[in-house]
Amino acid sequence: MKNYQFGADYYPEHWPEQRWPMDAKLMKELGLKVVRMAEFSWHKMEPEEGHYDFEWLDRAIDILRKEGIVSVLGTPSAAPPAWMIRKHPKIQPVGPDGITRGFGGRHHDCQSNPVYREYVKKMVTAMAEHFKDNPGVVGWQIDNEFGNSHYDLCMCDSCKTSFQKWLAKRYGSVDELNKAWGTYFWSQEYNDFSEVYPPVKTPCGANPSQVLDWKRFHSDLICDFSKVQTDIIRSIVPKEHFITHNCMGFSDIVSYYDLSKQLDFVCHDLYPFGYWRDHSLEPFEIGVELDGIRGVCKAPFWIMEQQSSVTGWEIMGRKPAPGQVPLWAVDSVAHGADTVVFFRWRSCLGGTEQYWHGILPHSGIPGKTYEEIGRLIKDMTPVMKDMEGAMPVVKAAIVRSYEQGWAFDIQPNVQGLNYYGQLIKYYKAFHHKNIPVDFVREDDDLSGYKVVIAPLQYLADPDLAAHYEKYVKQGGNLVLTMRAGVKERNNLCYAEGPLPGVFSGLLGITVEEYDPLGSVCVPVKSVSGSEDNRDASCDTCSKTAGNGLCASKWADIITLKGAEPVFDYDGESYEETPAVTVNSLGEGKAWYVGCEPSESLMEAIVDMLAKETGTGSVEGSDIKVPAGVEVTSREKNGKKWIFILNHTDEEKKTDISDRFRVLSGALKDNKLQPYGYAVLEG
Ligand code: GAL
Repeated sequence: MKNYQFGADYYPEHWPEQRWPMDAKLMKELGLKVVRMAEFSWHKMEPEEGHYDFEWLDRAIDILRKEGIVSVLGTPSAAPPAWMIRKHPKIQPVGPDGITRGFGGRHHDCQSNPVYREYVKKMVTAMAEHFKDNPGVVGWQIDNEFGNSHYDLCMCDSCKTSFQKWLAKRYGSVDELNKAWGTYFWSQEYNDFSEVYPPVKTPCGANPSQVLDWKRFHSDLICDFSKVQTDIIRSIVPKEHFITHNCMGFSDIVSYYDLSKQLDFVCHDLYPFGYWRDHSLEPFEIGVELDGIRGVCKAPFWIMEQQSSVTGWEIMGRKPAPGQVPLWAVDSVAHGADTVVFFRWRSCLGGTEQYWHGILPHSGIPGKTYEEIGRLIKDMTPVMKDMEGAMPVVKAAIVRSYEQGWAFDIQPNVQGLNYYGQLIKYYKAFHHKNIPVDFVREDDDLSGYKVVIAPLQYLADPDLAAHYEKYVKQGGNLVLTMRAGVKERNNLCYAEGPLPGVFSGLLGITVEEYDPLGSVCVPVKSVSGSEDNRDASCDTCSKTAGNGLCASKWADIITLKGAEPVFDYDGESYEETPAVTVNSLGEGKAWYVGCEPSESLMEAIVDMLAKETGTGSVEGSDIKVPAGVEVTSREKNGKKWIFILNHTDEEKKTDISDRFRVLSGALKDNKLQPYGYAVLEG
């Protein structure tokens, strides 16, 4: 049991030591149980090479522990100190343009550099040895937000050599690499692995197979950089200590699926106003990241950083409305968070993040934010204590694949098409109907789901087709979409037959031609006429004709080979040919959506799937809520908690009657306050 419900990211080294007892006292009064510290404190912990100083941190941990607050320590490998950079400038990362990114921010490190790795190993060993018996320390965070700031860095000589070694291991011989990358094109054949470069800036477009492997390599490199640290920590600290990492939702520089193999659980950092937004992320945009993170370990997670006030670096975004900060915290819990840690305890006086405000303002005097968060903590702590480890019960899943995302990053195929945008579009339709969704991997056991949506299964192989076919034959409803089966795994085009390649038999269709629509919309109509009564306009072209049912971005021109049409195009030279199809196979059905559906079409498709499979919102609760109010649930040992979240700035009436006991939040006369929430006993 971890059972720490709320915490703060704390930087004691930014403040005079005399202030620390006051901070700890205020934290205790607020109800905080945990802090995260030290993830950027390398210089404080090793001011000169080989001279470690952990005593200041011992004192901080001790002061906090006396107030009942435990500590998670971050390893500082995202911020090597200036003395190290001066001595070993090659530690700094080099961009695709060949330019070195220097000291003065953070993440100015190359993760493959052997000299840097030695320093990291020594620091992590020293930290683990020093803190292993400290009763105030309960866990570790490796580095900070892997992938943040690094993007496609680093392409230095050390990374080049590491890439070459990684390729030699993957392909065995350079001839295999030449085949896998299609290097016959533009005379790109290699005679030896030592000739291969990272995808540096070239005069014109790079080889898509090379770039895909670079992205795979880069993700593996980060996992390896992290593993060096987790291995050391695990070999030294007591086994009760946990190891985690603060992930960034759908960021895809590193595969969180791979990274999580070395972690006990994952965390997410939640900033709905980001660097400067004038409106918060939409509820479905918050939900999609939370559900995405829950899918990484298929377990409850932590929020290691949550926005507590106004945020921004050089410019700031709007102030969260009263109630919004607590609502985000409850939203996280509603999607599976066991602990919420607020960023940061106190707004900083110096450095880049002076305007990224914390629970306390610059003055350190508790104000409205402190009070509001205090009310939340008091209200939610008892219910969260009971709920720890509970999970939502989910019958619909969306497949999320890092590799598909990378492939679309490299070649979006058509203007405006984006892998994550597509995932989110499907998710949004489920979210609006309060149907809970899991994110799963391509090769996961899908048998527990009534519906599985696998958007843009672009890179494919016969094993994936067989896996999906098995799911369908056993009674599942699988939805594949445009651009399925276009390529084999190395990013070379599929040549064994017409599209959708390995999925043709499963879907009962072929696609011999397509129309990359870009920003153009083509109306569609339901074959049965059942969708003719929708009263909506298309979110892309704003046309109301056809009830807003449109195909956008892409149109596959489908030939039926056993499947039935569900929607047909209602325009263009391919008028009357199918845009959406369904193929019955065994006990289940394989659906194909040959376009990006407009919101209205998406809603129609999701309605059909929900009806077909009996997938609804929170199972068994029959709660009805108005638009803008979200309903989710978590369950454990036969107990169920239902969350009702008002994401709007208006009071909302619900139909929740005396059937449910309200455990926390407020529901007066069945009404939720603006940004109000209620947790009910299910
Ligand atoms: C996060 C990061 C924190 C802090 C915060 C505000 O991405 O993990 O260290 O920088 O953003 O910018």
